[in-house]
Amino acid sequence: MEDKIAKLREMIAESDNIVFFGGAGVSTESGIPDFRSVDGLYNQKWKYPPETILSHSFFERDPEEYYRFHREKLVIDGVKPNRAHLRLAQLEQEGKLKAVITQNIDGLHQAAGSKNVLELHGSILRAYCSRCRRPYPAEQMNKGTGVPRCSCGGVIRPDIVLYEEALDEDILRRSIAYIRNADILIIGGTSLNVYPAAGLINYYRGNKLVLINLSETPYDSYADLIIHEKIGEVFSRV
Ligand code: OAD
Repeated sequence: MEDKIAKLREMIAESDNIVFFGGAGVSTESGIPDFRSVDGLYNQKWKYPPETILSHSFFERDPEEYYRFHREKLVIDGVKPNRAHLRLAQLEQEGKLKAVITQNIDGLHQAAGSKNVLELHGSILRAYCSRCRRPYPAEQMNKGTGVPRCSCGGVIRPDIVLYEEALDEDILRRSIAYIRNADILIIGGTSLNVYPAAGLINYYRGNKLVLINLSETPYDSYADLIIHEKIGEVFSRV
């Protein structure tokens, strides 16, 4: 572990073109459960599997049940950025890190001070009407009861990418460009199971691919440096 941290520290010190790509594991140390760990969201008992509730067709069919899940499981009060978010923001400020590409919808990278954050799956901190597209403050959607509605009668929805929905093309295009041009690509806190996000790794052309994840991933053999430790812990030491 020590030598791997030292190696990462050295790599970071020598580069000014680092890109970070992360997922739910980046926020677990802030108290937000991930999806696929044993105590993650997908292993909890719920009336329908979370992948079903978090789908476009389910949202259309049963927005009431969707919002019950959304407010109970996706919205978590009082969460703060952890050492991984904070160090990444600092690396950006130092001119070393070019972009944070995240699958998370919690806004914690921005809360930590990161400016260039590409949210592949959107954010629960934004809302809009699913009919007329008018934007709404997220508080009403995240805190209220029942199904939030627009003055046009449409259902207000979170600005997140539900299953069955396409990723924003511009965000995807920019993410690919950052990864393609990166000197170091650090991937962390993601099981690399969900596509197209997980496929972004294939655009990296360098020889400094760093993977920081508690459990193994299907891409472990691609990594030039692999650290199976808590990401907040790792970032507090580099
Ligand atoms: P997952 O829950 O699939 O994976 C999180 C990974 O982070 C797991 O492999 C954990 O071992 C690891 N992990 C947890 N805590 C960690 C820590 N402190 N340090 C390092 N690693 C840690 O989450 P994602 O890969 O983000 O999509 O899932 C991708 C997408 O699946 C999500 O964006 C969401 C979900 O369905 C949508 O909602 C569209």
